[in-house]
Amino acid sequence: MSKGLLVSLGVLGLLVVGSILAYVFPSASNQGYAPEQPIPFSHRLHAGENKISCQYCHSDVERSKHASVPPLGTCMNCHTVVKTDSPHIQKLKAAYDAGKPIEWVRIHELPDHAYFPHKRHVAAGLNCQTCHGPIETMDKVYQVSPLTMGWCMECHKGNTMPKDVADGLKKRPDFDPMAHSLAPVNCSTCHY
Ligand code: HEC
Ligand code: HEC
Ligand code: HEC
Ligand code: HEC
Ligand code: HEC
Repeated sequence: MSKGLLVSLGVLGLLVVGSILAYVFPSASNQGYAPEQPIPFSHRLHAGENKISCQYCHSDVERSKHASVPPLGTCMNCHTVVKTDSPHIQKLKAAYDAGKPIEWVRIHELPDHAYFPHKRHVAAGLNCQTCHGPIETMDKVYQVSPLTMGWCMECHKGNTMPKDVADGLKKRPDFDPMAHSLAPVNCSTCHY
């Protein structure tokens, strides 16, 4: 057998095994995931009732790949005076004084091979809520969207993209009206 044929057979084999694995272990979606947190932090109370903006705490969304969870210093801007009699706030202050972070349990998490930049999405005019749901009403954050590849693709193709965001992209000078999608759908956009 030629080396080329062996290689093609090998690739074919991998594809077959891959499809079987993908069938047996369908792409995991953590939709609905709502873990207990070390301190019962409420978005309803902070972002809802007290109208603290998302970016006040998730200050990295506009400038980096990650949105990130705020350092304790951000909490202590208020909690050196607000609700200091609460045992939760005392736990917060003890961690802050000891220079130890609170180990928040990560909720939204893509596999390592997928790349998601917050910055580009926020700059295109998408609201946090389009992907994360009504966070400002949640006492406990849960994962609203499936975060699967199909979910990403449906929006990039334009099928689920909010109209104002789609219209904004269509008005750009580099917009290609012949393209079959509004945002990139080639594999290397999202995969390393
Ligand atoms: C006062 C600070 C603060 C504000 C304001 C705030 N957050 Fe958060 N956010 C946190 C903290 C702390 C966590 C980690 C604990 C948790 O998950 O509840 C978190 C977690 C999250 C998560 C889950 C992160 C993960 O692990 O996947 C999302 C999504 C989120 N916030 C979005 C928002 C949005 C959208 C807004 C505005 C509507 C907002 N946050 C406002 C502090 C804040
Ligand atoms: C801009 C001010 C502000 C910031 C920043 C802030 N909080 Fe608060 N927090 C409040 C207010 C106001 C309340 C409601 C107090 C009340 O019920 O009287 C509150 C309540 C709480 C409570 C409930 C306390 C209880 O036992 O009733 C917890 C827990 C809490 N915050 C944690 C955090 C954490 C963790 C952070 C940082 C990620 C944070 N807060 C950042 C203003 C803030
Ligand atoms: C287009 C969809 C989309 C939008 C819009 C979006 N997010 Fe996310 N968010 C995600 C995805 C996907 C992840 C998981 C990223 C990963 O694992 O690499 C995530 C993760 C997070 C996390 C967990 C920590 C991190 O950085 O991965 C926080 C906090 C968060 N988002 C907050 C926000 C806030 C605040 C906004 C609005 C300013 C926002 N997101 C807008 C899709 C979105
Ligand atoms: C609700 C719509 C929506 C969802 C859901 C969404 N995206 Fe996007 N994405 C966009 C838009 C709009 C752009 C175009 C931004 C631009 O061109 O300025 C974009 C651009 C990108 C880019 C940047 C391409 C570049 O040129 O740098 C990457 C990477 C990306 N998305 C990955 C993802 C991944 C991974 C997911 C799923 C986990 C996802 N997106 C889900 C709307 C979405
Ligand atoms: C808009 C972003 C985006 C594009 C474009 C994209 N992917 Fe993905 N892909 C993802 C995300 C996010 C995941 C992880 C979530 C999941 O498994 O559904 C993923 C998962 C995968 C997986 C693992 C599936 C599994 O069952 O674990 C494979 C294989 C894959 N992609 C191949 C491709 C190929 C081939 C292309 C080009 C035709 C492509 N992807 C284009 C976002 C994208």
